[in-house]
Amino acid sequence: MRIILLGPPGAGKGTQCKRIVDRLGAVHLSSGDILRGERAAGTELGKKAQSFMDSGGLVPDDLIVAMMAGAIQKAGGKYVLDGFPRTVVQAQELDKALMKAGDKIDVLLNLNIDDKIVASRMTGRRSCSVCGTVYHVENLKPKKEGLCDKDGSELVQRADDKPEVVANRLKTYHAQTAPVIDHYKKQNLVMSVDADKDIDEVTKAIFAKLDALKGA
Ligand code: AP5
Repeated sequence: MRIILLGPPGAGKGTQCKRIVDRLGAVHLSSGDILRGERAAGTELGKKAQSFMDSGGLVPDDLIVAMMAGAIQKAGGKYVLDGFPRTVVQAQELDKALMKAGDKIDVLLNLNIDDKIVASRMTGRRSCSVCGTVYHVENLKPKKEGLCDKDGSELVQRADDKPEVVANRLKTYHAQTAPVIDHYKKQNLVMSVDADKDIDEVTKAIFAKLDALKGA
């Protein structure tokens, strides 16, 4: 199954993707995580992406399309795309590449949520500095404050989760990423989920949509 999970920054894409891939035995392909890995490794791509990410803008389409094409090819046929495609140009390039290979996207799951809620989710988010596991200071606390449950490493705040950058990321989302939903609506591939529920309820709603799709 080839799934796209979209929604505003902080909607819960990463959190829900982990659960979807565990259930389906699929590969999680997060463009944001891949870019953060490139930055941490100090690659050319990571250096080029840095200023766009830090300001809350988007990394140029050509860099992202090349990066994700490689990741998709390695993943085989079962994956969940998290945060890609994020512009209509990226969507068109993805569609073209899949069509060439005789494949297609099965569904776009769209996490619907208000900007005010996602802003507080992002400013409260903390991630493990080593394994990347995501927590929240209120909604998803680690067992020991400031430390990862899995490996005991320090939890840190993402640089782009500072309030001024969060505001810009939301602007970018509405201007450049929301049109991607319309692009896939025209192909009848969009299923929307209310993401303003607790984490388990959102997961349940997503699994119900995926089960309905498999049964269809
Ligand atoms: P990326 O890493 O993709 O960031 P994003 O889309 O802004 O999404 P986030 O990771 O912030 O949020 P999320 O929806 O995954 O939420 P999460 O599950 O963590 O991209 C970063 C940057 O990279 C971009 O700004 C851009 O510059 C660049 N980039 C990436 N892809 C690109 C592309 N395709 N093209 C160009 N540039 C690209 O949850 C958030 C918090 O809320 C957590 O603390 C979590 O515990 C909590 N939470 C989750 N769900 C719930 C819930 N239901 N109730 C309460 N709390 C919840």
